[in-house]
Formats: sequence, structure tokens, C-alpha cells
Amino acid sequence: MDLFEYQARDLFEQHGVPVLRGIVATTPEEARAAAEELGTDVVVVKAQVKVGGRGKAGGVKLARSPEEAEERARAILGMDIKGHTVNAVMIAEGADIADEYYFSLLLDRAHRTYLAMFSVEGGVDIETLAEERPEALVRRPVDPRVGLDEATARAIAEEADFPEQLRDELVRVLVLLGDVYREADATLVEVNPLVRTGDDRIVALDGKVTLDDNATFRHPERAGLVDEAAMDPLELRAREKHLNYVKLDGEVGIIGNGAGLVMSTLDVVAYAGEDLPGSPSPANFLDIGGGASAQVMAEGLDIILSDPKVEVVFVNVFGGITACSEVAKGIRGALEQIGDKATKPIVVRLDGNAVDIGREILAEYDHPLVTVVATMDEAARTAAERASEALVASGSSGAGARGSTDGEGEN
Ligand SMILES: Nc1ncnc2c1ncn2[C@@H]1O[C@H](COP(=O)(O)OP(=O)(O)O)[C@@H](O)[C@H]1O
Ligand SMILES: [Mg+2]
Repeated sequence: MDLFEYQARDLFEQHGVPVLRGIVATTPEEARAAAEELGTDVVVVKAQVKVGGRGKAGGVKLARSPEEAEERARAILGMDIKGHTVNAVMIAEGADIADEYYFSLLLDRAHRTYLAMFSVEGGVDIETLAEERPEALVRRPVDPRVGLDEATARAIAEEADFPEQLRDELVRVLVLLGDVYREADATLVEVNPLVRTGDDRIVALDGKVTLDDNATFRHPERAGLVDEAAMDPLELRAREKHLNYVKLDGEVGIIGNGAGLVMSTLDVVAYAGEDLPGSPSPANFLDIGGGASAQVMAEGLDIILSDPKVEVVFVNVFGGITACSEVAKGIRGALEQIGDKATKPIVVRLDGNAVDIGREILAEYDHPLVTVVATMDEAARTAAERASEALVASGSSGAGARGSTDGEGEN
């Protein structure tokens, strides 16, 4: 999960990293009050969106009075920055910037270690710097078992030719940022810019933090950080049911057991639909895991069928520890639970442990919406074809839409 800048600022502050005061506002009036409360000659109005380059996009503006802060906030709130709507601004104390530096600490998967990066040429777009002047960017692996300790921080400062009179302070701040990274279970802590102020303090002016979602259970205090407004409502519901669901754009709902099987199911469905009218594609990722009880199957089906774009559901289960007979009972139980809400065709492919009994159960149940297909490829084709037919019938396929426009032209 990525944090908003103000959340990163708070996290930094909790760990003793020097930051400036900042107050979040969601209306121009609140922005004015925040500027009054800060009471500094200059404040900065900063768009709170989880995307970089806010400054260049016009989302970071100086204001020299509470009235001006209100005006700036009025302009910035509601702005669209790279597809993100600005719902809040942070009113921050204006810094007297003497120098801007760059710092980041991140998970370097390729090298199975952490990587610290630092440059005395901060404030700029770091990708550009890395490309055009790679020698200006110090890169140093950090042993995850040790973290960013003082020796490493000092080596970084020396290699970057950081001014000697402030080196101790820089080292202190980098070590604190390393503490943030470890204690918050982050996979990224980036400060751009880290600045030297006119009175020679080192301050983090901008913060980008990504937290490792796999560590959320260690941080119960984080429940409040989740930005539910930005989440897909179906994903939100799935999360409440502890289902591993990701919403996608297509029309074929997918349920499978095991992440690997579900991933390959997405592939075969996308492939099967590619050349069909309307090009149907997967509507979601949903892994119901090992157990696949009737309850879990029902909850999964219910979520998928709540997606108005879904035209057909493809249940692809390989019975391993869970026997196909149990899975078949699960599907039957799910359909009994869902009742009339099940209106879309369901293509089922079962294989593996006790497959014969499983197929027999579904054959006996003989539900009008359920079609059992023997192989995964065949089932994917069947599902994609059903979705394509539905798209053509509803006129929302590319071919249908073009057809009707042509028709109008001729009239
Ligand atoms: N509190 C502040 N005081 C003065 N200048 C600031 C302050 N915050 C940001 N800036 C200036 O605005 C630039 C962009 O702000 P930043 O927070 O880095 O946003 P982004 O990286 O999204 O563009 C910074 O490089 C800095 O020069
Ligand atoms: Mg920045």
C-alpha cells in the first residue's frame, strides 16, 4: 500500500525524522484556517495524490497569506493529476531551501537485498538523473539483516561528496529513515527532496512510502490508513470476506483454486476471446484457495455475479487435497444459496482427485445454467464464446457498435 505524503510525513515524525509541520485540508476554508494555525510567512499548498511529479503538474504552490492559501487550495482541490483526483491538500510550512538532495531505500528483488540511493542533486526527476548522470547517483546495497546503519550511511555521504560540516547530521537522518523502513515494514522510503535549510538543518520535504501489505497483520494500527474511497467496491466487499479477488475489465468471471491455476486461466480465456466478436476477456482474478467449501464458492460467485459487466462465469478447479466431489457439492450448495441471483451461464471444468464423482454430482443436479466441460482449453473457449454471444446480442461488441453506426449513416 502506498501512503499519501501527509501519512509519510506523520510516519517520519513518529520516528524522529525532521519534517515540517503540515495540516490536511479538504476545503479551501480549512486550508485558510490551517495556514493561520501554522502562522508562517510562507506556506505551501500540496495536492495529496499517490503519484509523483505533483509540483510540475501544478499541484504544489506557495502562498504568502492565509487568503492566498485558500485561493491556491480552491484551484488545486478537484484537480486531476495523472488520473488522480485531488480530494485533499496538505498545508505545509514553507521551507527556506538552500540545497535539495535525493534519498531512497527500497527492496531490490533482483539482488535479494535492499538498495539505498542518494544524490546531492535532488529535487529533479530521479529517473532522468539516473539516465543522464548516473555518476551523480550513489547506489549502495543494504544488508536486510543489518539495515541502514551508521557505517553505511557515512559511506553513502562520503561517496556522494556531501559537505563535511553537515555530514554527521545527514548520517543521523539517513539512519532514522532506515529505522522507518524497517519498523514500518516498508518496501520503499523515498525522500525527494531531502533539503538543507538556510539555517543548516536537514529536513524531509516530500515523502513517498510503500508499505508491505504482507506485514499488515503486524500493524493493527494501519487499518485506518486504507484509502477505501479509492478502492473498487467489489474488491472492498471481497476483502471483507477474505477472498483473494482482483477486479479486471472483461466479461468472463473467473473462479479457480490456487493462484497459479487462476493466472493461467486468465491467460487461456484472454487467448480464447481475442479473435471473437467483442473480444471478451477476464472480468476478475479470484482464487478460492484450498478448501473451496460451498460457503466460499457461494461468496465468490455472489461477488462475481454482482459485477454488471460479467456475462458468464468460468469455474476452473483442480482437485488436489480437496476432492472434486467436495467442489461439486460446493457449486451445488452455492447455487442453492444464491438462488435467483444466479442468472448468468456457469462453465465448469473439474479435474483431479475424485473427478468422476464430482462430474456425476453436477450431472445429477442438472442446473440449467451449469455446463460441465472436460478440459481447461475447451472450457475457456466455451466461456469466451458465451460471453461473445452476449456482447453481440446486447450490441456492445465492437462489431455490433460499428454496424449500427453504419446503419445510421445510410438512413
Ligand atoms: N514545504 C515546502 N517549502 C518550500 N518548498 C517546497 C515545500 N514542499 C515542496 N517544495 C518545493 O516543491 C517541489 C515539489 O514538491 P514535492 O513535495 O517534491 O512534490 P512532487 O515530488 O510530487 O513534485 C520540491 O522539490 C520543492 O522545491
Ligand atoms: Mg518530490
